Amino acid sequence: MTWLITGGAGYIGAHVARAMAEAGERVVALDDLSAGMPDRLPESIPLVQGSSLDGDLLKRVLAEYGITGVVHLAARKQVGESVADPTRYYQENVGGLATLLAAVAGAGVERFVFSSSAAVYGNPDVDLITEDTPCAPMSPYGETKLAGEWLVRAAGRAHGIATVCLRYFNVAGAASPELADTGIFNIVPMVFDRLTRGEAPRIFGDDYPTPDGTCVRDYIHVADLAEAHLAAARRLTDGASGDLTVNIGRSEGVSVRELMTLIAEVTGNTVRPLVEPRRPGDAPRAVASAALAADELGWSARREVREMVESAWRGWLLHHPEITGA
Ligand SMILES: NC(=O)c1ccc[n+]([C@@H]2O[C@H](COP(=O)([O-])OP(=O)(O)OC[C@H]3O[C@@H](n4cnc5c(N)ncnc54)[C@H](O)[C@@H]3O)[C@@H](O)[C@H]2O)c1
Repeated sequence: MTWLITGGAGYIGAHVARAMAEAGERVVALDDLSAGMPDRLPESIPLVQGSSLDGDLLKRVLAEYGITGVVHLAARKQVGESVADPTRYYQENVGGLATLLAAVAGAGVERFVFSSSAAVYGNPDVDLITEDTPCAPMSPYGETKLAGEWLVRAAGRAHGIATVCLRYFNVAGAASPELADTGIFNIVPMVFDRLTRGEAPRIFGDDYPTPDGTCVRDYIHVADLAEAHLAAARRLTDGASGDLTVNIGRSEGVSVRELMTLIAEVTGNTVRPLVEPRRPGDAPRAVASAALAADELGWSARREVREMVESAWRGWLLHHPEITGA
């Protein structure tokens, strides 16, 4: 087996590429470096610079490296940007996926893992979200992930490709500091960014119908998430056919206020958060049932939220030496 990891120089993709390589899989990364960093990958993992929109390049890469399976993470991922520029999101996320699947089918590759997201569910009024909870995405970004799943399953059926769609919940942490998320689009780095600027972190709404009034989310350590990809890849290597769509979370709800308290403990920065009005589209609660992943992939998360915050902070300090004066 040789796996192509698209988006392999990204935050999650680099964790996946490394975890799979460390587990003995042959991997090749493809990334257009629009958000990725080549330094996240060791020299032993070849990195092809190029886009999932470039069909000719994909064809060449699949043939040249003898690719037998694909893990597709390359995508745009900012919800707000997707609201402002939906055509770009459909072009890159759905168009890029269609181009890739055409190349995959043409090359006779029979295994495909797709990065989906809890954003496909929107705002369901349930305690634990199962894979049968109806999907109603609330942003063009979430729509591209749901449309992507449809396309993956349809192409799988048409061309005999076995597929797994992984619906990640809120990803945080780093397996090592240099692999940390350098963007400030997810809550943990967003709070670190505010603290680094000497500003109070913001809580958007504390009047939700949740125990402390703030939104509740399910956080997953990126190292656990990388192991879930490995489990999905192994399932496909072991001859699984058809399609599987699973939640990747911890089934544990953590409120924004609880997370802020943990961040204050870890960073030693106890600036009181500011409470601002609710943001449109934020679900009060989004917590996964992770039962299907345990049954089907033999995978479950092992790392706690504190470990996510501590490892993310070590990565943040590495990328912001001004904080420690290093
Ligand atoms: N971070 C999260 O919390 C989260 C949650 C759910 C799903 N996801 C999904 O996981 C995947 C990876 O997210 P991430 O957080 O690592 O983001 P990221 O931006 O760090 O990684 C995406 C990578 O893909 C590359 N890329 C983007 N468009 C490309 C294209 N057309 N061709 C080739 N490379 C391209 C970027 O340069 C980047 O390295 C995405 O599909 C995202 O939608 C992320």
